[in-house]
Amino acid sequence: MNESKPLVEGAHFPLALSRPDLIPAARYSDPDFFALERDHLWTRTWQMACRLEEIPRVGDWVEYECLGRSVLVARVGEEELRGYHNACRHRGTQLGVGRGHSPNGFTCPFHGWCWNLDGSNRAVFAPEVFDPALLEPEALRLAEVRVETWGGCAWINFDDRAPPLRASLEPFATYHDALGVDRMHAESWFETIVPANWKLVAEAFMEGYHAEQTHPQLLARSAKSGYSAGTDPLGFVDPEDIVGSSLYFMRTLSEGMGGGMVHARDIEVAEELVRMDLPDDPVEALSEWTTRLNDEIRSRASAEGADMPDLNALLSSGHIHSVNFCFPHFWYLPVYGNAASYRIRPISPEETRFEVWTTTLWPAGDQASTPREPTRRPHDDPNWGEVLRQDFANLPRLQRGVRSPGFDAMRLARGVEGTIANFHQALDGFLAEREHADLLPALHGVSGPIDAPIRDLGL
Ligand code: FES
Ligand SMILES: [Fe+2]
Repeated sequence: MNESKPLVEGAHFPLALSRPDLIPAARYSDPDFFALERDHLWTRTWQMACRLEEIPRVGDWVEYECLGRSVLVARVGEEELRGYHNACRHRGTQLGVGRGHSPNGFTCPFHGWCWNLDGSNRAVFAPEVFDPALLEPEALRLAEVRVETWGGCAWINFDDRAPPLRASLEPFATYHDALGVDRMHAESWFETIVPANWKLVAEAFMEGYHAEQTHPQLLARSAKSGYSAGTDPLGFVDPEDIVGSSLYFMRTLSEGMGGGMVHARDIEVAEELVRMDLPDDPVEALSEWTTRLNDEIRSRASAEGADMPDLNALLSSGHIHSVNFCFPHFWYLPVYGNAASYRIRPISPEETRFEVWTTTLWPAGDQASTPREPTRRPHDDPNWGEVLRQDFANLPRLQRGVRSPGFDAMRLARGVEGTIANFHQALDGFLAEREHADLLPALHGVSGPIDAPIRDLGL
């Protein structure tokens, strides 16, 4: 397979794609391929480094680490963030680990050199013992990493030639701006380590084709006819059946996502509407139910002070996608003024860090407080919501399976598994060290709703 012409121009490396719907198995375990990704993807792509709520005050900083590169993202002014390579300019000691609040800047724990928040050096211990040529102020400044913000998050990029963040996230960014994701606050944050390659973990959230087998509880079903095929109202018997099915789905998704996506408050609103009058025609009934529920959720949230967009206007302008991927490692899953959000980071060829946040526009209640650190759980912890527990259960088996000598390549559906194919094409563009001018339009063909068809990304 690998002797054939590469699909992506210039992709002259082992395991390059030769067609978009056939993914060589060793891309998920080969250490040399993993090293290529480390050197040519993760050094040149925008990465979600933290939620802005992690660093609300001037002087707050958080360490973002991926594949051995550590960056301190610091709030240096009310509206200004900076990123620094996490290494002392004396002998390289890391200046910060984890997170902290240092309004006066950073002090190295080894010999005590100090930096201001703006990255300028403030003090060298006993400077007279150095050759002054080594202590030029410019040379002692902390080395900067690009930081830009979008969607309630700070993002970093090690490549100074990469296009601006916002342009790199389209059409994902514009889609979510309309939903107000930048105004959402996090209600929960969990982290786990999954024993699988980062791309296998990512691909578990790029298609709904697995839902029927992996998450059968999520399929909208008619209690009366047993009908189960998405939300086609023709399969429902009567309005009561539609309302029952809708409530079932809301509760199951909420429970399955650990209270994220659909929130308890949305379910309460729906429960109060259960007895509303609906037309007998199932199509009209579903439409009326959806419209009324959206309006009611918005007006309740607004009454509590939330700046929630008009959910029905969003629906009619095509905001119907509940799982959206942003190349290479971030997701928003928006529903009713809430969203779950995922981030993944490779650790080793067969180990991946996965995080999930639940965020919402509903105002924080008295009980709620924004988590500043993730709660860590094993991937097989029974406390994960059912949906993620089901996804995580597949992944170790998938990793072991793709290493089987009897497995040569993944075979992708051209329609519903196209997001995976597009993701790999864009990846090969990075690994082939293509120019950003070529990569940018390719990114626009990858980031967005999942379940996309295979696209020609022009690479
Ligand atoms: S290594 Fe940081 S002050 Fe010496
Ligand atoms: Fe899933």
